[in-house]
Amino acid sequence: MMFTVAIDGPAAAGKGTISKAVAAHFGFAHLDTGLLYRAVGAKVLAGAEPIAAARALDPVDLEDDSLRTPAVAQAASEIAVITEVRSALVDFQQKFAGRDGGAVLDGRDIGTVICPDAGAKLFVTASAECRAERRFKELTGKGMDITLDQVLADVKERDARDRSRETAPLIPADDAVLIDTSDMTIDQAVARAIEIVQARL
Ligand code: C5P
Repeated sequence: MMFTVAIDGPAAAGKGTISKAVAAHFGFAHLDTGLLYRAVGAKVLAGAEPIAAARALDPVDLEDDSLRTPAVAQAASEIAVITEVRSALVDFQQKFAGRDGGAVLDGRDIGTVICPDAGAKLFVTASAECRAERRFKELTGKGMDITLDQVLADVKERDARDRSRETAPLIPADDAVLIDTSDMTIDQAVARAIEIVQARL
């Protein structure tokens, strides 16, 4: 059985949590596509050239915990505007989406560019303040020394760049179902997402 779930949305809206829970519920594989851009961003911070780094990306590069820092997130959003970087990553994502047994991919352009024919498309969003607060708790929980204002500024800057870029900007697909998680608990958001996917299976 092949079924693709596309989950897009801005930074820290809850896509990761929802995607993992949906994948676990249906027994699908999950790919956090942000990790691809983060892995390229991390290589660029270490001195690599972005397009070459994207073309040479290896799936083991995605398993690095150091990809979860705000500095890498910023670098990721900077290299994500480069058309050749994006096209170098398309094949890996589409192969993952087409695997037998079902797949959930979360990112910014899954429903619009990577998997326009996905069986279910969700666009998960929340206010910038809510998203910053959640990311702040996550980062400080890991012991990172950062302020809420810094996290909010980071989230807003990345969103603006993701929304305004020319190639594959962050925008809901016409046929995506919107979930605003601002006033939802994690359990409510997950339940809603599962219901939407179930109705399309
Ligand atoms: O989702 P995450 O915050 O890990 O993504 C990091 C950055 O990678 C985003 O800000 C965005 O610029 C880029 N990205 C993208 N397309 C995707 C996933 C992530 O451009 N499908």
